[in-house]
Amino acid sequence: MLERSPKPVVEKPTLHESAALHVTGTATYIDDLPEPRGTLHLAPGLTRIAHGRLVSMDLSAVRAAPGVITVLTAADIPGQNDTSPIGAHDEPLFVTDSITSEGQILFVVAAETRAQARAAVRRAVVETETLDPILDIDTAREARAPCAVPGRTMTRGDAEAAIAAAPRRLSGRIVMGGQEHFYLEGQAALALPGEGPEMIVWSSTQHPTETQAMVAHLLDVPANTITASVRRMGGGFGGKETQANQTACLAALVAHHTRRPARLRLDRDDDMVMTGKRHDFAIDYTVGFDDDGKIHGVDMLLACRCGWSADLSGPVIDRALTHADNAYFYPAVRLRSLPLRTNTVSNTAFRGFGVPQGALAAERVIEEIAFATGLDPNTVRLRNVYENGQLTPYHMTVEDSITAAILTDLARRCGYDTRKAALRASNAKAAEEGRVLRRGIAMTPVKFGISFTATHYNQAGALVHVYTDGSVQINHGGTEMGQGLHTKMMQVAARVFGLPQSDIRLTATTTDKVPNTSATAASSGADLNGMAVLDAATKIRDRIRDFAAERYNADPGTIRFHNSEIHMETGQGTLVESFAAVVRQAYLARVSLSSSGFYKTPEISWDPATGRGHPFYYFAYGAACAEIVIDTLTGEYRIDRVDILHDAGLSLNPEIDRGQIEGGFVQGAGWLTMEELVWDKKGALRTHAPSTYKIPTAFDMPRVFNVALLEDVPNRKATIFRSKAVGEPPFALAACVLFALSDAVASLDDHRTCPRLDAPATPETVLACIERLRAGKSATGHGTKIEVPATDADPVRDPVG
Ligand code: MTE
Ligand code: MOS
Repeated sequence: MLERSPKPVVEKPTLHESAALHVTGTATYIDDLPEPRGTLHLAPGLTRIAHGRLVSMDLSAVRAAPGVITVLTAADIPGQNDTSPIGAHDEPLFVTDSITSEGQILFVVAAETRAQARAAVRRAVVETETLDPILDIDTAREARAPCAVPGRTMTRGDAEAAIAAAPRRLSGRIVMGGQEHFYLEGQAALALPGEGPEMIVWSSTQHPTETQAMVAHLLDVPANTITASVRRMGGGFGGKETQANQTACLAALVAHHTRRPARLRLDRDDDMVMTGKRHDFAIDYTVGFDDDGKIHGVDMLLACRCGWSADLSGPVIDRALTHADNAYFYPAVRLRSLPLRTNTVSNTAFRGFGVPQGALAAERVIEEIAFATGLDPNTVRLRNVYENGQLTPYHMTVEDSITAAILTDLARRCGYDTRKAALRASNAKAAEEGRVLRRGIAMTPVKFGISFTATHYNQAGALVHVYTDGSVQINHGGTEMGQGLHTKMMQVAARVFGLPQSDIRLTATTTDKVPNTSATAASSGADLNGMAVLDAATKIRDRIRDFAAERYNADPGTIRFHNSEIHMETGQGTLVESFAAVVRQAYLARVSLSSSGFYKTPEISWDPATGRGHPFYYFAYGAACAEIVIDTLTGEYRIDRVDILHDAGLSLNPEIDRGQIEGGFVQGAGWLTMEELVWDKKGALRTHAPSTYKIPTAFDMPRVFNVALLEDVPNRKATIFRSKAVGEPPFALAACVLFALSDAVASLDDHRTCPRLDAPATPETVLACIERLRAGKSATGHGTKIEVPATDADPVRDPVG
């Protein structure tokens, strides 16, 4: 009987290391840590106006409230009142004078219980002076509000001339909303003071090194006194890359002053009001093209809402610019960014980090060309996808393009052409019979650049110990937020030592084991840390191998680590010893069984000033096809079927990657369809709880969901076992849902007009779009804007500030 060659442990779908803990409710998150004796519980007092000045603050009643131990403000900070992640110094932890958003922190209460702290907050008497807030992109542009970070231009060739000389041209605008992260575990931290200035901060953070640095600056102590630690997050999605710092700093400040442990778990409503979200964009585009649907030139202006501080807006909008081509070659191009400062939460990292926004504009341009030429959008796509050797708008040569192959393969697998013809026929019949349901289908690809654009972030460290009983403990700089990074790292070590994954123990990410780490972000966690773990584990394995060669008189070239054993060829024939036995002997012979590991990504470079360079080590590719049905009376819809073909290289763990693809896609579909952030006219966020902010649930999953990984296509670059990053790219695949909705809507006027459906395409937006088309009006390109009157008494949140 023929047996398939066994896949190495890394390509096997091993179980998520915490799966059993997750499903039995025994995985510990920050708030599950056993409470040290004397722990204080915190609650922040927040601003309730979006723009103005703090006139006075009387906290005496707060201090006198039952159970209150202390109340701290900016005056109590020994070091810097600044949690700006990029050194912009525009993000004070506490407001001192100027108020630039709702949800900024005025003070923090520490009490014996959480309920006491929260009750005490309400006793504050805060006087403010109100100024008109600037809340959205259009107002900020009209008001010429200053940019939060410098705008940038990326050019190649003369876009204006190419567009003018093209046989056809058109202009339009696509508007897309922001998105709340809605991690299941909210922001949380526990600070434990130690000897002298020492402090341990457990924080639900994607970036322990930055949390450590923030706390050190705040307390004016060196970094070597602060340890930041996290075993796992209950989801991060980018929302804990910088946004965890406030919570950690509040806990650390109270611990510093009271010398007692201090714990803060943000209330969900406070969390949603305080923390940054995905950047919403309004992108104006002009494209020159010909009757064959070939693009000649593209000009885009990407305006986005940054909120009240710079935060990560610079790198996010750079990533939107570098992906405003999605998978398409623009022969001549000009891309400009306009990052606008507004009196709303400071927008931040969110899965895709600007890519979904930039790529969506590219897909809208393709859709427009399809409507203008009468070609199928897929034909337009295939005529414009990158061929190897072509240059991106940032002058990087594309060398690994497989978009055409993926699109073609997926179209064949899911029967795009025949299904589309059938849908058109069924829509026509429905129209004839006066029925209300219409169906739509669309397919979109993604080409996602992998690496941090901040080149120095592309490094990682690991620490591996082998104990004398042969058990292995690993630690690395990446954090676990559910994405399976730790599982993959255990698989890497398991493969090096020839052990089962269950013999590897992975401990919490902590700055005292692996220092100077990067955020676990940009999907690069496994790429970077995997190589560092490989480096550390290989060093130890090589020492054990050299020892074994000497001790057992074996040829080092023949020594194999396999099945928890070490196999070697000696003069007397094959010798097999257990891994544990050899390790024990190595220890007795004084061989070091511990090592650190390090990795930095080669080849990359990026000059943000010129917008040129080689910012990405490689690209991850994928394509998706969505079929939807809409109710033309109500605008409601359902995703009937989704097919995905995604490129994870030689996947480190196919099942985990499948989970990332499904989860990323559904989260992306949520962004484009049902998730809607609404601020009222005074700048209060009105969607600050699950009662008003709708994220996808199990019922919103596509009825049919076929996810396939590209098989046997190794990464051309020497990444960890030739895998590819997978955390964010599938998010952008959800674009096909928006275009499938648009396809269904377009059937109402026989596909003569591009509906210019904006996101989120809520049922209301879809209905408005249907009515526009029915009225024979050309599309405006603007989504519906919900006007919400401001109310003074918010029934849900505590009236503070
Ligand atoms: N998957 C889960 N389950 N939870 C998360 O918070 N975050 C995403 C993605 N997948 C996230 C997730 C984001 S924003 C990123 S950048 C990557 O995971 C980070 O992890 P990686 O670099 O290990 O892929
Ligand atoms: Mo992900 S947005 O890079 O944390």
